[in-house]
Amino acid sequence: MKLTRRSFVGAAAPALVGAQSANDAIRAAFIGVGNRGSYLLRHSLAVPGVRVAAVCDVQEDRAQAAAEVAGEKGHAAKAYYDYRKLLDDARTFDAVIIATPVNTHQEIAVAALAAGKHVYLEKPMALTPDECLAIVTASKAAKGILQVGFQLRFDPRRRAAMDFIHGGGIGKVLFMQGFRHGGDLPRNTPWYFDRTVSGDNIVEQACHILDLMTWAVDQSPLRVFGSGGINLYRDIPPGRTTMDNYAVIYEYPGDVRLVFSHIYFDPPGFTGIKERVFGSIGAVDLARAEFHERANRGAVKLEVPNEGENSTYLSLKAFYENARAGRKPPLNDADSALRSTLVAMMGRKAIYERRIVTWDEIAR
Ligand SMILES: NC(=O)c1ccc[n+]([C@@H]2O[C@H](COP(=O)([O-])OP(=O)(O)OC[C@H]3O[C@@H](n4cnc5c(N)ncnc54)[C@H](O)[C@@H]3O)[C@@H](O)[C@H]2O)c1
Repeated sequence: MKLTRRSFVGAAAPALVGAQSANDAIRAAFIGVGNRGSYLLRHSLAVPGVRVAAVCDVQEDRAQAAAEVAGEKGHAAKAYYDYRKLLDDARTFDAVIIATPVNTHQEIAVAALAAGKHVYLEKPMALTPDECLAIVTASKAAKGILQVGFQLRFDPRRRAAMDFIHGGGIGKVLFMQGFRHGGDLPRNTPWYFDRTVSGDNIVEQACHILDLMTWAVDQSPLRVFGSGGINLYRDIPPGRTTMDNYAVIYEYPGDVRLVFSHIYFDPPGFTGIKERVFGSIGAVDLARAEFHERANRGAVKLEVPNEGENSTYLSLKAFYENARAGRKPPLNDADSALRSTLVAMMGRKAIYERRIVTWDEIAR
């Protein structure tokens, strides 16, 4: 069968192969221990049955600091400064957690999968549709599982809201609305502002909300139009190529529309996120797990199992359980992550080319 992006999206997930017995500790290796990687490391140290065996970063001080953090919890983690050297020692670990800049995802993820390891790869999947396809192709042939860091799928409130939507609680989905306003990104991480490294903000940042909205309808969009640019932070920081504002309108099958906007120069009072799904009976706020019926004024709080638990912890816990026992495909599996990353890339293309872009163009 010819492997295309389209054939993966929506295809049945293959049976998963457990690396070891359900009782064995799972040995984890971390590649990229900056902002996100060190957060993933801390949460992994709290997951029962996980041993941190190795950490790697091209910045030696970061690798050493991460090894110390693991050491304080009694884990003997070896520090590496080149991921290829770490993979040369592949017998010493079972799972690889990758949290490096987006332009390195394809190379590192494909190598880790080829080494027979389970892979937790941070979102977005990669920089381009072709890179994403290369990762998913590698994962289909791999012994290990691939899970992607769309951890908001494990957020208890959003998950309860999604169950409510999928159970017909809001009736037929009609319209979705999202925004994400949070001030500009931290200037101490230069690659955030280079779209050849990050994939630009709609891919690197907004992929989370686009993932949730696509999950709500569980379909790929038909087409998108968008507009965006740099209106305030021109050359701030110097050389900036990532947008500081944009808006996109997606059309999904069934005449469902999604409107999403993203602004980086919002004043503090306007900071926040909005994730709303409107249906024929009422609308749900995903982040609050609140249902607003059209016929009645006021919000009804949905029942939220595990409310307050950290989504990243839950996502990692699912990954390690899955890697250990081959339980079931995770909520943020390779197929859903591919689709959501492509949804973001489709919006990026529409903005850059100032035209309507169809799903068929991106998922050739
Ligand atoms: N899921 C989330 O909510 C979330 C949040 C933040 C970041 N992220 C994602 O995590 C990834 C990392 O982002 P970050 O904010 O931690 O960036 P960062 O710059 O803080 O950390 C990246 C680290 O990777 C290291 N690195 C770069 N190339 C490497 C290589 N070839 N081998 C080993 N190490 C290498 C860097 O030295 C750095 O320490 C990105 O994909 C980002 O989109 C996800």
